[in-house]
Amino acid sequence: SVLRGDVGLELGQRVARALRAALDVDITAEQALIRPSNRDGADYQCNVAMSLAKKVGRNPREVATLIVEHLDAQDAVEAAEIAGPGFINLKLRREWLETQTANLLRDDRLGVPETEEPRRIAIDYSSPNVAKEMHVGHLRSTIIGDAFCRLLSFAGHEVIPHNHLGDWGTPFGMLIEHLTDEGHGADHEISDLNAFYQQARQKFDNEPGFADRARRRVVLLQGGDEATLALWHELVGESQRHFNQVYELLGIGLSAQDNYGESFYNPYLADTITELQQKGLIETSDGALCVFPPGFTNREGDRLPLIVRKSDGGYGYATTDFATVRYWVRERKVDDLIYVVGTPQAQHFQMIFATSKQAGWLDDAHTAVHTGFGTILGSDGKTIRTRAGGTIKLIDLLTEAVENSYQVMPESSDVEGAEKEELARTLGLGAVKYADLSNDREKDYVFTWEKMLAKTGDTSVYIQYANARILSIGRKVGREAPQDAPLVLREQAERDLALKLLQLPTAIQAAIDELAPHKLTTYLFETATAFSTFYNDCPVATAETRELQDSRLHLLTLTSRVLTLGLSLLGIGAPERL
Ligand code: ARG
Repeated sequence: SVLRGDVGLELGQRVARALRAALDVDITAEQALIRPSNRDGADYQCNVAMSLAKKVGRNPREVATLIVEHLDAQDAVEAAEIAGPGFINLKLRREWLETQTANLLRDDRLGVPETEEPRRIAIDYSSPNVAKEMHVGHLRSTIIGDAFCRLLSFAGHEVIPHNHLGDWGTPFGMLIEHLTDEGHGADHEISDLNAFYQQARQKFDNEPGFADRARRRVVLLQGGDEATLALWHELVGESQRHFNQVYELLGIGLSAQDNYGESFYNPYLADTITELQQKGLIETSDGALCVFPPGFTNREGDRLPLIVRKSDGGYGYATTDFATVRYWVRERKVDDLIYVVGTPQAQHFQMIFATSKQAGWLDDAHTAVHTGFGTILGSDGKTIRTRAGGTIKLIDLLTEAVENSYQVMPESSDVEGAEKEELARTLGLGAVKYADLSNDREKDYVFTWEKMLAKTGDTSVYIQYANARILSIGRKVGREAPQDAPLVLREQAERDLALKLLQLPTAIQAAIDELAPHKLTTYLFETATAFSTFYNDCPVATAETRELQDSRLHLLTLTSRVLTLGLSLLGIGAPERL
């Protein structure tokens, strides 16, 4: 893919052409390995000579020399110098950078191309369990999944959110029985339901006869008994209200329309098993129907099963996940499935995918990927808990985030009332999201208010402040630069900022390719930092000439647009004043 506004890729293309001319080898612009650099006054560094040397039977410095000799980039490159084992340091021409930057001003996508190969992608995220409170474990899935939806949609893909609610199966037998014992119809608050779940669990473990009733109730539920279904709907409805509260507060676009809970797949389970059977993938073991995905064994070397039908005829989590893959690929014609689910379920999904390939549901054109994520830790390095040691409710955590954000609002702020509350939400929830997304998805991270709400450092607050400052400079100057006023990149800080602005497409592409939102947060932080230096070094309101002021106003506009767009792709707001 050719990124329109990306200087690095433009250089990559030039290097690729030079290589074709010099050595008759074909590489893509990405393979030219052009990386930003500030060594020896360079703007970029090209590392391809080292990676190519062996293949073309020359030493890296020779390859580098040939590239430089054949490089057709007079317009763009001021100096191309070979360093060390075969790096090529590229310093760009100021005029060329100015033109590239000016092009961004006219591009409403800031140089980010739309994909030439749009795909239909179903994303399984959030996916909490009915009749239980959402907890911080579901927070990461919700935040990361939402960022994936935004990034992939912006890139031009068709995204279908898929909230795989845990709303079916054996626990509901126990919950419904408890509901009938207690008398129902009254308003069940979800906070009661949490305790309610515990009580049901207690009875299930201790009260004679209860477990049997619960099991019979499961059969009734799965058989579609109307009275049972009505009770089940009561539980689901109450939970949905709670989930919506969290989604609304977080500004997550999930609604009931995106629910594809386990119950949704119930009608597909039998056919799914039949198909697995017809394809010879099912074996009977102790009366249960199992699949044995290739390549999965335990320590003793025994093959590991996934149970698709228990000996009592019941279906389980894996059965539903097979039906899910089959449904999305066959009925909804998706190209890709993304599952944003905690890392402990990694093996489950690898096994589901392996068998789905055997069944022909997944193939080269239909892919599935599990994007796991680490745990949120408290300051003691253990899974985050309340002070009393209980699990933290998501809604409590988010409410606390909003409350804490008042601390980072400027005292002089003239923002009041409803606007102030809105601001608190944007800051507080943005901080929670940013803290999550800026950490490597796979890793655990420590949750600390002080760190995530800091005004300096790699936080959303810092970026939001940078953006608000830019807009306030604009208001102070009181005018906009004429659209066609030229860019002037004379100062180092101007040049560095412009270079950063031109790298947005690469950052977005990396975040998408690696399903790694932190690639984008890192970029936004660097951009805000480049702005801070610019702000210190390059006066705008008191610029020496009108020409310089116009150019700097353009840079400010572009920076604000980049920061605002970048944050929005992560689901984070950028307030106009702070
Ligand atoms: N409800 C499950 C949980 O809370 C997550 C479901 C993930 N999606 C799936 N297709 N299995 O752990």
